Amino acid sequence: PHPPAYAERLLAWFDLHGRHDLPWQHPRTPYRVWLSEIMLQQTQVRVVAPYFERFVAALPSVRALGEARLDDVLALWSGLGYYARARNLHAAAQRCIELHGGELPRDFDALLALPGIGRSTAGAILSQAWGDRFPILDGNVKRVLARHHGIAGWPGTPAVEKQLWRIAGSLLPDARMADYTQAQMDFGATLCTRHDPACVRCPVQDDCVALREGRVGELPTPKPG
Ligand code: ADE
Repeated sequence: PHPPAYAERLLAWFDLHGRHDLPWQHPRTPYRVWLSEIMLQQTQVRVVAPYFERFVAALPSVRALGEARLDDVLALWSGLGYYARARNLHAAAQRCIELHGGELPRDFDALLALPGIGRSTAGAILSQAWGDRFPILDGNVKRVLARHHGIAGWPGTPAVEKQLWRIAGSLLPDARMADYTQAQMDFGATLCTRHDPACVRCPVQDDCVALREGRVGELPTPKPG
């Protein structure tokens, strides 16, 4: 009998301890997932939630966003900071109207070509909106994987990042991709935290290299300098 795969253990943890009532989960449409992921790139969930509700109420679709005036989009963003995100969102919505019939494309390369969407955000959108099998690798996931696999070296280094992407892709479940993506975010944000990881309550402690080797406190390796 094999021990449950990594993803299975994370999903079981998510069912009990994950966040299931985030505004963009109900309903979970591609537009709402995209908007939430852009807002969450540099801003915490509790700050984002009320902005998200206001934004989708005023601009409920890709088409509504693309056809809105930039000033109105920036006004809805006002207070969230990093305003390039709002400008990119607006430009990306216009591109979706021109190229994709006013919808977000269900295609990794087409998403990556839109302003403001990188590799991890494209994966987060495809997995959460459609259940497609793509990995994510944001700061939280880098920390979790660096610890679990005992990967030293600053994760901003191209070679380390490449290794982490390979690991992230190797751990994907065959089903429940949307939940798995959210599970990783919640796991990194609430249990495998930077300064106070709760290893005693961790669902993947059995095969965590950092825990076994007493290196949880030193992984991931900080940025040099
Ligand atoms: N950060 C980025 N995406 C997130 C999500 N879906 N839930 C919580 N935090 C996130």
